[in-house]
Amino acid sequence: MPGVRAVIVRAIRGFDRRSGIFSPHGARLYAAVSPRVLRPFYRRVVDDAARFVGERDALIVDLGSGPGELTRMVAERLPRARMVGVEPAEVMRTMASARGGRFVDGRAEAIPLEDASVDLVVSTLSAHHWSDMPAALRELDRVLRPGAEAWIYDLRFAAYGPEDLARIGAEAGIEPVRLSRSIVPGRLVRPFALIRLRATLAA
Ligand SMILES: C[S@@+](CC[C@H](N)C(=O)[O-])C[C@H]1O[C@@H](n2cnc3c(N)ncnc32)[C@H](O)[C@@H]1O
Repeated sequence: MPGVRAVIVRAIRGFDRRSGIFSPHGARLYAAVSPRVLRPFYRRVVDDAARFVGERDALIVDLGSGPGELTRMVAERLPRARMVGVEPAEVMRTMASARGGRFVDGRAEAIPLEDASVDLVVSTLSAHHWSDMPAALRELDRVLRPGAEAWIYDLRFAAYGPEDLARIGAEAGIEPVRLSRSIVPGRLVRPFALIRLRATLAA
């Protein structure tokens, strides 16, 4: 299965490049189409985030935020939270910022935030672009506060499987008990997987 996943990830990355989602026109098209398709999924992520964060003045990161639809939905639902989108593609950041909110240059392997500063990281459909998953997990672990979590959602057949995750977690130096993978429940189809990283608890 790891070999099959690698082929699927290569195919998706190739499709992304060919579809031009990182060109101004392609990014605009992605920003117009993706919310229509993904809004029910985003609503579920927002509900989970609201339950997790509650009324706290929390720092929430949308990692690989693209045009920022989920970032805005979380910010609207949780007005007390400080929301930041981290996104490496300038074209995506420019488009996202034009509609308000805070979007900064960065990537999963180098998150531009302080150690132990973040209460929740959400990431949707971005992880198949990350070039170094162990480095990304180490970075996520670095920025999470004690008790915080990172939720990495990706296409189910592209997301790392349980067998890959054990290897990647070990390489990143993360205890297996803090890393899990589940399939996101859906009414008819279940296209998404969720990789969940829990920070260590306060000493
Ligand atoms: C398919 S888009 C998903 C955007 C948004 N999260 C959504 O749900 O629509 C993937 C995004 O991941 C970003 N990305 C690519 N490599 C990344 C990396 N190493 N770290 C973080 N984000 C990355 C891309 O620039 C792109 O905006």
